[in-house]
Amino acid sequence: MGEGTGHEIARVGVVGCGLMGSGIAEVSSRAGRSVVVVELDKGALERGRSRIATSLERAVGASKMSTADADAAMGRFTFSTDFDALADRQLVIEAVLESEPEKLAVFTMLDKVVESPEAILASNTSSIPIMKIAMVTGRPEQVLGLHFFNPVPVLPLVEVVLSLLTSPDAARRAERFVTDGLDKRTIVSKDRAGFIVNALLVPYILSAIRMFESGFATAEDIDTGMVKGCAHPMGPLALADLIGLDTVTAIADSLYDEFKEPLYAAPALLARMVEAGLLGKKNGRGFFDYTRP
Ligand code: CAA
Repeated sequence: MGEGTGHEIARVGVVGCGLMGSGIAEVSSRAGRSVVVVELDKGALERGRSRIATSLERAVGASKMSTADADAAMGRFTFSTDFDALADRQLVIEAVLESEPEKLAVFTMLDKVVESPEAILASNTSSIPIMKIAMVTGRPEQVLGLHFFNPVPVLPLVEVVLSLLTSPDAARRAERFVTDGLDKRTIVSKDRAGFIVNALLVPYILSAIRMFESGFATAEDIDTGMVKGCAHPMGPLALADLIGLDTVTAIADSLYDEFKEPLYAAPALLARMVEAGLLGKKNGRGFFDYTRP
């Protein structure tokens, strides 16, 4: 895929280079776009850069791309700790922690630094209403949700979330970037906490955690039940570990805040695990242990 021209989005920015941000940056660069990645912290920026490099090496190892294409993709990145590096971007996708104050702070900054009034400001939030985010900017019509799925290079879906104020033109251009640029499938959701996928997925994961917490069955048996009995690629507890237990909690809290339904309430065990620093695969231990080879 060549460098985008004309009305296409050619210059992409990504704020936050954790699990999701690095994946979003990677697929954007693989689609031929120039990508500026911004993290406030130099260490986090370097970890993100190295995560992207490892994923590209993995793609080369799996014969999904040539070494030359992987090098070219790496060459399209600029890594920075300065928000000003995003000034000329046509689309900026925010993928910082699932925390409302952090996201609002990022969008306040983006509104100041991104120059083009046509630029689209997108959030990869899993559950925070887009309207809350849009209203800290002076251009809410340019703000929408682009919600990717982990691992981003593998899963072919993006939820497009439109607020009451998102302009049809911004929505159309963002959707075209995902389908024609990234070659992913979109589904469109109204602006309700959890959107489509997490409104269904998170209660399922929380039920599995409650089942485990009550001593009903082992973690292995709960997961095997869904993998072997329902052909899911992984069980709900391994999936919670993959998403990150801090993120699962944050999504559950947003859903509970919005709907006040007990099925969205985070179980006590989940809260204790997060307090204990057992965050899942990303730091080695969650419902399963990833420290052993
Ligand atoms: N980068 C690039 N390619 C990758 C990759 C990565 N990080 N991880 C896996 N792959 C590729 C592999 O090369 C492999 O390709 P082939 O099939 O062509 O050989 C394929 O993906 C499958 O990978 P593996 O064989 O290594 O491993 P697997 O078969 O066990 O699959 C998995 C791993 C892709 C994670 C799979 O278990 C899966 O899809 N699980 C479900 C994940 C899911 O539900 N994610 C959504 C979470 S919800 C979310 O993200 C949103 C939110 O808001 C919480």
